[in-house]
Amino acid sequence: MKKIKISPSILSADFSQLGNEIKRLEEGGADLIHVDVMDGHFVPNLTIGPPVIKALRKYSSIPFDVHLMISPVHKYIKDYADAGANIITIHPEATTNLMESIDHIKKLNKKVGVSLNPDTETNIIIDYLDKIDLVLIMSVFPGFGGQKFIPEVVEKIKQLNEIKKRRNLSFDIEVDGGINFSNSKTVVNAGANILVSGTTIFKENNGDIKKNINILKSV
Ligand code: DX5
Ligand code: ZN
Repeated sequence: MKKIKISPSILSADFSQLGNEIKRLEEGGADLIHVDVMDGHFVPNLTIGPPVIKALRKYSSIPFDVHLMISPVHKYIKDYADAGANIITIHPEATTNLMESIDHIKKLNKKVGVSLNPDTETNIIIDYLDKIDLVLIMSVFPGFGGQKFIPEVVEKIKQLNEIKKRRNLSFDIEVDGGINFSNSKTVVNAGANILVSGTTIFKENNGDIKKNINILKSV
């Protein structure tokens, strides 16, 4: 059984203190830092880009798990790699050639993830599963933190995990959106090994990050 990793989303952090917030996450036991990049086009929200990621890089040595909710994505991938991303996750709908974008990320020596929205079928990425490091299953429609978990995605996680075991593949299954103390065990039992969380980690237990990360880790 793979160790459960926690990737807190900084979308729920204090944006006026992002460097210190990232340090708090690392000190609180985060395994990865989930950086939600939004362009106001692929999703109806706008967050941060390469210059901010570059500025944040020196605040933590743990991997930046960069979730690109931008379209078109291909021509911007290198900017995020150069800014310090360790994992670059893209949405299939945001590129005209998914294999080309996957290869591009790998040639930049970064880990590659592909993200499935709640209404995107797993079969659109079935042929890429042996070429990627991570599948990011969205349990909310991307664009905002603090949304309600969509329970129908649990079946999708189970299906993906079945395919992974049957084909003896090793990609991580990361789940993102509305993860909390009451649904995290269900998600892990379905096959997820990386949990993204913003609201739960930053807001629960009076914002005790270390406590909240430990609760999510101990499912
Ligand atoms: C939504 C983002 C998620 C979100 C998670 O588009 O991709 O990473 O910030 O935040 P919570 O845990 O608050 O749903
Ligand atoms: Zn995300």
